[in-house]
Amino acid sequence: MKIVIMGPPGAGKGTQAKSISHKYSIPHISTGDIFRKNISEKTELGNRAKSYMDNGELVPDDITISLVVDRITQSDCKDGFLLDGFPRTTFQAVALDEHLKKNEDYLDAVILLDLPKKFILDRMTGRRVCTTCGASYHIKYNPPRVAGKCDVCGSAIIQRKDDIEDTVKERLEVYDLQTQPMLEYYNKRGILKNIDGTQSIDSVFQSICNVLNSMV
Ligand code: AP5
Ligand code: MG
Ligand code: ZN
Repeated sequence: MKIVIMGPPGAGKGTQAKSISHKYSIPHISTGDIFRKNISEKTELGNRAKSYMDNGELVPDDITISLVVDRITQSDCKDGFLLDGFPRTTFQAVALDEHLKKNEDYLDAVILLDLPKKFILDRMTGRRVCTTCGASYHIKYNPPRVAGKCDVCGSAIIQRKDDIEDTVKERLEVYDLQTQPMLEYYNKRGILKNIDGTQSIDSVFQSICNVLNSMV
């Protein structure tokens, strides 16, 4: 199964992607997580991405597209993958399709976590993420078992640098201007699946599973 999960910042993409990846045994590929890992390791890719991310802007298409194409060409993606946070522009969506088409391949579904903006600020400012494995928590809605520590790997959990209010507002604007128009591209192809992202974490997951199970 080759799937994309998309939605505005803080919609719950990363949270759901971890569960989907586990249940359907497909690798979870988050461009945001890959960039953050590179920034913390101070690689060349990290240096190039850092200022864009800190300002809530998109990393340029050429950097992002080649990163994803390299990743999905690896052998663990042969039978499927789950892309989280990519594509984010129509240009990226077309580039992904063209890459897949070379191998007579295509996306099976694009899951859209839909929710009004009023939910988002609360989710983002309460979010804490693991510095090692990227797991995402929320101080109110999804707290870790031990305060300040990741349930999965025990590392420290911290607030993301781009989760401060002004940067969140910038990211929301970028989503409206650059990502929202891409929905129509997938809608026309009939593979866009709308999920109500205002539900609880478990109910959102159940809704996604219902959609995916009806496809196989
Ligand atoms: P990225 O890391 O992808 O950030 P994003 O799209 O802004 O989304 P988030 O990760 O902030 O939110 P999420 O939807 O994963 O929500 P989460 O599950 O954590 O990208 C960051 C940056 O990288 C971009 O700004 C850009 O600069 C760059 N970038 C990445 N991809 C790019 C691309 N393709 N092109 C160019 N640039 C790119 O949940 C949020 C919080 O809510 C958590 O605390 C969680 O516990 C809680 N929560 C989740 N679900 C629920 C629920 N149902 N009820 C209550 N709380 C919930
Ligand atoms: Mg995320
Ligand atoms: Zn962890």
